[in-house]
Amino acid sequence: MVIKDINIIAAMTNDRVIGINGSIPWHIPEEMKLFKQITENNIVIMGKNTWESLPEKFKPLPNRTNIIISSSLGEQKGANICRNIVEALIIAKNYNGQIYCIGGAGLFYQMLPLSQILHISWIKNSYIGDTYFPAIDFKQWIKKETKEFAEFTYVQYLRKSRD
Ligand SMILES: NC(=O)c1ccc[n+]([C@@H]2O[C@H](COP(=O)([O-])OP(=O)(O)OC[C@H]3O[C@@H](n4cnc5c(N)ncnc54)[C@H](OP(=O)(O)O)[C@@H]3O)[C@@H](O)[C@H]2O)c1
Repeated sequence: MVIKDINIIAAMTNDRVIGINGSIPWHIPEEMKLFKQITENNIVIMGKNTWESLPEKFKPLPNRTNIIISSSLGEQKGANICRNIVEALIIAKNYNGQIYCIGGAGLFYQMLPLSQILHISWIKNSYIGDTYFPAIDFKQWIKKETKEFAEFTYVQYLRKSRD
């Protein structure tokens, strides 16, 4: 089976906080715009909690193939439900575009070892959270691109073993 590269896209503080109370601790429209720009016309894979955290008008995330991984969720309009990661990757193969794992923590933990490209928005302020991105072993990654924004720094990393 040919498997596409797996991208991970996340926004986190320097302490790796990504969420609190089932939601995102900050509201940074510029970061949301970047997320949209990067993921549009591609495939987004997310865990059930992340799907449930989306506002109704963004379910499914527009102009993207939405795949939800869940063992319990019933049919959701406009989205594919997969019962595990392998099933999600097989389904993703049928659609155009790159694969983006968009969270949450559960998915990031499972997909980080499988991923080749990281898109991280490093949020400059500190926030209290209850959900964290897994520790990243930066020895395995090289910075490909950095873009500075007022409230965050976007960095794209490539897995070193690709070269
Ligand atoms: N800052 C960011 O970039 C960012 C991005 C996304 C989300 N978030 C935040 O992260 C938090 C949510 O993260 P989370 O870790 O609680 O939830 P999550 O990863 O979105 O979803 C976890 C759920 O997904 C399903 N799942 C995960 N792996 C599975 C597998 N291998 N097989 C079958 N089902 C699987 C399970 O649902 P079932 O119980 O149905 O099996 C599990 O309970 C929220 O606060 C959200 O706002 C932050």
